[in-house]
Amino acid sequence: MRTVPDVSAHFDEATNTISYIIKDPSSDCCAIVDSVLDINYAAGRISYDHANVLINEVKERGLTLDWIIETHVHADHLSAAPYIQAELGGKVGVGDKIMLVQETFGKIFNEGTEFQRDGSQFDALFKDGDRYKVGQMECFAIYTPGHTPACMAHVMGNATFTGDTLFMPDSGSARADFPGGDAGKLYDSIQKVLSLPDEMRLFMCHDYGPNDREIQWETTVAEQKQKNIHVGLGKTREEFIKFRTARDAQLDVPKLILPSLQVNMRAGELPSDPDGNLMLKVPVNAL
Ligand SMILES: [Fe+2]
Repeated sequence: MRTVPDVSAHFDEATNTISYIIKDPSSDCCAIVDSVLDINYAAGRISYDHANVLINEVKERGLTLDWIIETHVHADHLSAAPYIQAELGGKVGVGDKIMLVQETFGKIFNEGTEFQRDGSQFDALFKDGDRYKVGQMECFAIYTPGHTPACMAHVMGNATFTGDTLFMPDSGSARADFPGGDAGKLYDSIQKVLSLPDEMRLFMCHDYGPNDREIQWETTVAEQKQKNIHVGLGKTREEFIKFRTARDAQLDVPKLILPSLQVNMRAGELPSDPDGNLMLKVPVNAL
């Protein structure tokens, strides 16, 4: 908690995702959490504007990229991890429960045996409590299943990157209705995050600016405990499950879920057809 990293946030308007560059205060080392690859899905075209902003900032500040972290297999945006790694180096890490996600969506997308379901596309697979360093800064990952089975939050000094567990206090929590999702587990994971010290800074993966407020991404454990509309003020597990399940039934499928899952379960690599052409699938009535 005594280590105070510099956190640079980059909001992606197309997907309402916040990507972060986190710098160790006692070295020039940094990590990137939850990068975004731009896609025009209708046209089948990808581009790198958002990723280039991150890459340029790391270069301009003269930083060394130690880690490229994915808090989970995102269903609403594509990861730019391989593109960033090719430019800046660093290890791509995700939770080791990725194997469950690969198993589930390997079936849904009818992937062949060339699609490994062992997480080997990533450089590092984190288990609950695993420690790692960004420069001199001690960091650790904690399991936060519920939104997906492979979700993790990452604690770096006095900053925690919550992935899709909590949203800002006025937005509540992430959905729990994807394959492998579980509202009860999400509640338990949120309690784990809220058991961190009150003054811990929390950084969200998404914000949608409800009621026309400006986009925000930073809060604290204390603020979430007091004000979160889904889990704050001592809401019970049963109340949360009931509310979350009813709410999820009304939510639309994320626009980019099909390309996102196929790419993100491959650590950000696009799948290709037998001739080596980059190619995405649309399984019909499978989700
Ligand atoms: Fe997500």
